[in-house]
Amino acid sequence: MTPLNRALGTCYYPEQWPREIWEEDARRMVEAGLTWVRIGEFAWQRLEPAYGHYTFDWLDEAIEVLGAAGLKVVLGTPTATPPRWMLDRHPDMIALDSEGRPRKFGSRRHYCFSHEGYKAECARIVTALAERYGRNPHVAAWQTDNEYGCHDTTISYSDAARTAFQGWLRNRFTSDKNDGDIAALNDAWGNVFWSMSYDSFDQIDLPNLTVTEPNLAHSLAFRRFSSDQVVAFNRMQVDILRAHTDAPLSHNYMGRITDFDHFKVGEDLDFATWDSYPLGFLEDRVGADAERQRTFAKQGDPDFQALHHDLYRAVGRGRWWVMEQQPGPVNWAPYNPAPLPGMVRLWTWEAFAHGAEAVCYFRWRQAPFAQEQMHAGLLRPDSADARGLDEVRQVAAELAQAPQVQQGRAPVAMIFDYDADFAWTVQPHGAGLSYFGLVFEWYKAFRSLGLSIDILPASTRDFAGYSVIAAPGLIHMSEDLKAALTASEAQVVLGPRSAARNGEMSIPVPLPPAIPGLDVTVSYVESLRPDMPVPLAGGGHLHLYREALEGTAKATLLDEEGFAVVVAQGHLTYVGAWLDQTGLRRVITHACQNADIATIDLPEGLRIRDCGHERFWLNYNAHAIQFDGLTLEPAGVYRQPLA
Ligand code: GAL
Repeated sequence: MTPLNRALGTCYYPEQWPREIWEEDARRMVEAGLTWVRIGEFAWQRLEPAYGHYTFDWLDEAIEVLGAAGLKVVLGTPTATPPRWMLDRHPDMIALDSEGRPRKFGSRRHYCFSHEGYKAECARIVTALAERYGRNPHVAAWQTDNEYGCHDTTISYSDAARTAFQGWLRNRFTSDKNDGDIAALNDAWGNVFWSMSYDSFDQIDLPNLTVTEPNLAHSLAFRRFSSDQVVAFNRMQVDILRAHTDAPLSHNYMGRITDFDHFKVGEDLDFATWDSYPLGFLEDRVGADAERQRTFAKQGDPDFQALHHDLYRAVGRGRWWVMEQQPGPVNWAPYNPAPLPGMVRLWTWEAFAHGAEAVCYFRWRQAPFAQEQMHAGLLRPDSADARGLDEVRQVAAELAQAPQVQQGRAPVAMIFDYDADFAWTVQPHGAGLSYFGLVFEWYKAFRSLGLSIDILPASTRDFAGYSVIAAPGLIHMSEDLKAALTASEAQVVLGPRSAARNGEMSIPVPLPPAIPGLDVTVSYVESLRPDMPVPLAGGGHLHLYREALEGTAKATLLDEEGFAVVVAQGHLTYVGAWLDQTGLRRVITHACQNADIATIDLPEGLRIRDCGHERFWLNYNAHAIQFDGLTLEPAGVYRQPLA
């Protein structure tokens, strides 16, 4: 059990405000109870207005002002916003979209991760910053770049990407005997199909603009390559920073962005952070139906933030923050309501309950200009307090009374695998099917039964201490992961699509899932129209996708016609369909009974998170709720000691 002190912070852009108000801003941040301030991540033009001409004096001063007021600085590297002059030096550094169109200057993230010239420029500015501020006593943490992948920027179809992809493939198909074995690639990808075989690696193009869909193996390889380019880009910055500073390094990840392997990026960093915009996400990323969007319009989805808190706790190997917390309306979703009073406080406490070390609000003051002028801050553009600031003050006062939140192991582990997400993206097999969507459905079902969850990467082999392990949708499973799950003492719930493809996206034989100790074979699969749900015997439905199951494992859930939907053998359960919440809750309740852990049927919008000796109750509803002898106000948070 690790008790941790929690802290608050904000994101500040001194370059956007007159020098005369910095002291006052810093004083007011401290007065509001903030400890951390992140700066610098979009300031490249102000730091280097012309190539090689550095102007660090203002940043020296800003750090000094903030530090002198008692704040700790997170310094961002500015590589998400290359200045306009950069394009004159490297006209081909911008990414191309899948139609081959350039993604032009005039906003941000206009770079291709594969461009060697741009990477060298990044190394240069990061080195200059690291040399200057690496030992600055006020710079207590660093952030690399800003939100890799934001605005769909992981994947680029540029010439630089093509050249790098060819090298990546050559490397992947190089063995002791053969330096770049093109025959091995042809074989692994099944290029005999449609005469797609290559004679050499430099013939392989990027998988866009083909007449019909490209080979799935080709597309998957390109996604893996694109992910590795992000990892390499980040590592380049990390290596430079480490040579000059001992301060911890981080990156701010996003909600439902899965197009690079966050676990791999996270391995090079000291802690993970993520940017939490519950109301923007509800409209834009949760995938909720209209009624649910209306119900939670001012609160956000009750499970979406929690899932990311758990995910990024894993990515940060236990250490994580919310780097950007929505403090009021945002500007970028289809509709941008103001949070229900109390929600800024609830979101903050929820993050702490999941183990966040700090929650920082984006942003300190609302900007009156440019793209995000309609995005609330803690201050209004006229510097008066904005609505969210009162709730921040309240959390700060509460933290002063009870700063520590324990963290322990959850009873349930859920495996999350970015590579599975890449494969599902390449081959969803039915409209609306996605790996993230499946994981989120399962996560919701566990949470609605009052369970706290740890997310684990697919590289995990030691599952000791968990009572239930959920592994939905792991389309690639190594033999040793299968063996580790079979050997674990937990109740293991797998499927659908478990081990359905080999590493190069072919159907393995023997047919999937081929899990030791579980005699089930998927003989065929079908995807279903959304208006064709199939009733389950005893309640609930399967929809969108199902598998035909053969074998001697015992059917534990049937459809109304008597066909097996879920089968089990010993401690292993296989779910051969996309189940609705009722169906999932039945399967999970059953597994929990077998594992001897208690479930609680929570009403809609009420969620709990257990940590160590306390239980946090969080009411996402806009109405008061009574449950288990407790009354929770709308947006209410209650900390209950556990026996
Ligand atoms: C984040 C980003 C911030 C700001 C914010 C607005 O995605 O990191 O720079 O744009 O969204 O909500």
